[in-house]
Amino acid sequence: VNNSLSEGREKLKSLLHTGRGLCSRIVTLLQEQFNKNIYTRILFTNVTAFVIALLAMSLLSSMVVKQVTYVQAEQELLRKAKRVNYALLQQVDPTAPTSAGVEDRMSLMRFLADTFDAKITVFDRDGVIMATSAEQEVVPGSKVGAQYIATITRGETAVIRSVDQETGQLAFNAVVPMGKEEDAIEFGILLEAKPSNLDLILNKMRLYLVVGGMFILLIIIILSVYLAMHISRPISRLATTVAEISRGSDVLIADEPLDEINVLAGQINKLALRHQMVQAESRRIVEERARLFAEISHELRTPLTTVQGFVEAISDGMVQDEALRDRYLDLIYTQTLHIARLVDDILALSRLESGNLAVEKLPVDLVALAQGVAMSMEAAAKSKNTSIIFAKSTESANVIGDADRMEQIIRNLLKNAIQATENGTIKVAVEVRQGEVLLIIEDNGIGIAPEDLSHIWDRFYQVKNQRDSNKGKGSGLGLVIVKKLVQLQGGRIDATSQLGKGTTFTISFPFVTQKR
Ligand SMILES: Nc1ncnc2c1ncn2[C@@H]1O[C@H](COP(=O)(O)OP(=O)(O)OP(=O)(O)O)[C@@H](O)[C@H]1O
Ligand SMILES: [Mg+2]
Repeated sequence: VNNSLSEGREKLKSLLHTGRGLCSRIVTLLQEQFNKNIYTRILFTNVTAFVIALLAMSLLSSMVVKQVTYVQAEQELLRKAKRVNYALLQQVDPTAPTSAGVEDRMSLMRFLADTFDAKITVFDRDGVIMATSAEQEVVPGSKVGAQYIATITRGETAVIRSVDQETGQLAFNAVVPMGKEEDAIEFGILLEAKPSNLDLILNKMRLYLVVGGMFILLIIIILSVYLAMHISRPISRLATTVAEISRGSDVLIADEPLDEINVLAGQINKLALRHQMVQAESRRIVEERARLFAEISHELRTPLTTVQGFVEAISDGMVQDEALRDRYLDLIYTQTLHIARLVDDILALSRLESGNLAVEKLPVDLVALAQGVAMSMEAAAKSKNTSIIFAKSTESANVIGDADRMEQIIRNLLKNAIQATENGTIKVAVEVRQGEVLLIIEDNGIGIAPEDLSHIWDRFYQVKNQRDSNKGKGSGLGLVIVKKLVQLQGGRIDATSQLGKGTTFTISFPFVTQKR
């Protein structure tokens, strides 16, 4: 027995297990469907809400119908009981002991019971059954329920519900006292009836609800699909356009009817525009870098070719003359110096452009600084019979910047000026004007032609005739570096020039009033 019991338990366990597995599988399947797309979500939600509403409605309405029907049936039964009372009082004297009277009373009661479809019982004040319309004989001396006796003793009428213990069926029992006046009550009438048509009504109602519900469900499904379509279509359109954008096309998303989607479209458009800008910028950077490499190789190529030529000439033994060979070696040396300078300048520029150069932000007195640099370069100017004049118009002029970088700027500009000037003067001035500190370097050298002036800020640019005379000296990066340094410290630089008359470079920085 124990064996079979445990076997059964095992079986039950495995059955439960498979049942649980099946349930969880169904739940995940439903979840998957629910999460699949907007269509299923809206459909699921609407249908579920409707089904719940329908169930609640049918439950509620069946309750209401039941209640209303019961009350109606009770009132009806009470009315019938009163009519039975009236009929019995009219027709026969229930107390008449004669057998004829008894017969009459019995047939009348049967007739009434048939018409009203109820069982009629007459009982006395003690509850003892006097007569009944039931077919089977009553056991003599049997009584009705105590609650009925109590009701008629109080002279009241009532309908009491009872449940048949065998069939479980509900029954209504109307009880009325018998007699014309209240104090003459001696008997009671009990009318028993079963509410028969209730199930019919309820079933009919349920049928209506189901059929109507089906119809409404169909409408809900159609509406849900329509709604989902209106939401998902613009999203699909959005997705298509975004795909196009990511493929690199320059399209933008058109206006959509739904506000939320419009907002999204606007954001995507912004993103697309930014993306286009970034792409253009990166293209520009790539092109710029290619150009830079080309320029650098070109700039390095020229001195390298020169070096190569001289070295070849010497190693081939073509230069027998000692003095000539020394001159060649000297030229080779100059060219290598130039290459080294070029490389240094390129490196400096690359540091500047990548932002890897540390630039201090401290107060710098440009008057003292410019004066110092001008003095230090006087000797170089002297060698070209040129003098440097420092015009002092203010005691000090503070700007925020990096003293070393400022010096580099002034030195570079002065070097250019000295290079361009012979037997002349270079004027260096620092002025404070309208909240700005101006640093002016003015020479009366060879000047720059207007067509060259706009190019002097270009990488590797050197004015044609000067380039030949400066051979091997400059890299054409000096002004590019100067401009970058000025900008890094929040300043501006401008140049004006007249060919044959001279050149003026003006740098301006915001003036700082207080020494920090
Ligand atoms: N004060 C000036 N007067 C006349 N021309 C000038 C003056 N300053 C600059 N230039 C011209 O502008 C060109 C560019 O100047 P930049 O300083 O960039 O290069 P560089 O002086 O030739 O070389 P680097 O400064 O790298 O040694 C010079 O080659 C020169 O032709
Ligand atoms: Mg220079």
